[in-house]
Amino acid sequence: GGLTVGVDLGGTKITAATVDPAGKVVSRVRIPTPHDPDRIADTIAEAVQRVRKSWDDVRAVGVGAAGYVDADRSTVRFAPNPGWRDKAIGDIVQEATRLPVVVENDANAAAWGEFIHGAGAGHEDMLMVMAGAGLGGGVISRGRLFRGRFGMAGEIGHYRAVPDGLGCPCGQHGCMEQYASGAAHTRRAREMAAGDPRRAATVLALGDGTPSGLQGRHVTEAALGGDPFCLEVFARSGRWLGQALADLGSVLDPSLLVIGGGLGDTGELIRRPAEVAYRRALGGGRHRVYAEVRTATVGPDAGLIGAANLARLHELIFSPVV
Ligand code: BGC
Ligand code: NA
Ligand code: ZN
Repeated sequence: GGLTVGVDLGGTKITAATVDPAGKVVSRVRIPTPHDPDRIADTIAEAVQRVRKSWDDVRAVGVGAAGYVDADRSTVRFAPNPGWRDKAIGDIVQEATRLPVVVENDANAAAWGEFIHGAGAGHEDMLMVMAGAGLGGGVISRGRLFRGRFGMAGEIGHYRAVPDGLGCPCGQHGCMEQYASGAAHTRRAREMAAGDPRRAATVLALGDGTPSGLQGRHVTEAALGGDPFCLEVFARSGRWLGQALADLGSVLDPSLLVIGGGLGDTGELIRRPAEVAYRRALGGGRHRVYAEVRTATVGPDAGLIGAANLARLHELIFSPVV
């Protein structure tokens, strides 16, 4: 019983919520992420203290962080997009709140949230790709979160999908994130619109008229209305995402692939072309079982709900029985 706190640590905001054993959010607070990375841990601690205020039965804290998290489950080693390096967030939050704290990669946490409370129903071997500002991955194997030896399994965003490809904030070139994330999808729409504004007229009219003013939601809205230009944008993004699913799927052979993040929120618009591309790219073709491809169902809270549950499990395993 009791509540645990789940925290979503993103590049722009920190959300902390108390979550009950069934995965229901009881209360939440939101604070902008400080620009100074050395203030992140204190800000998380502040958010936790504020959200736990009137609940004295809060038992533990789980933090989902948008970056490579160490196997110590405390240190964010490398966050390509916000640009954080080697921050021992968990230890500091633990000291400030006097609660047990586990830090987990945000996509791992979201995958766990979907696994126990959402799209994962009926499956034991599931992969989730979170296609939003970044591209994250989470692996569930035989019903357990798979972290790898050093905590960094499932980092789908920054393997080199395209030798000598597009530059990435992580310092590499050709990372899959530059092709298959939600941000890449929006950038693709802008570039295609700039290249052929006449064909893009319908979607451009939904924004400020300029290709650079185009937002993801405009592309989604026009695609839902059947606009061929925007359907073509989705087809191309789906091709890349399907490739990413096939890459992960070839190695791990799951029964379920879940698409989450902002791109996952577009539902069938992205799921259909991604599934087609996944099936085309997967080795073994028709002579094997394809994984089912679903979009996420928990919504934007999947990460903090998953993190809150991971904290609960951690507490069950590591606290002495009294
Ligand atoms: C980071 C991952 C993170 C993903 C989604 C990527 O750029 O490397 O750690 O899970 O973005 O936030
Ligand atoms: Na991950
Ligand atoms: Zn990269």
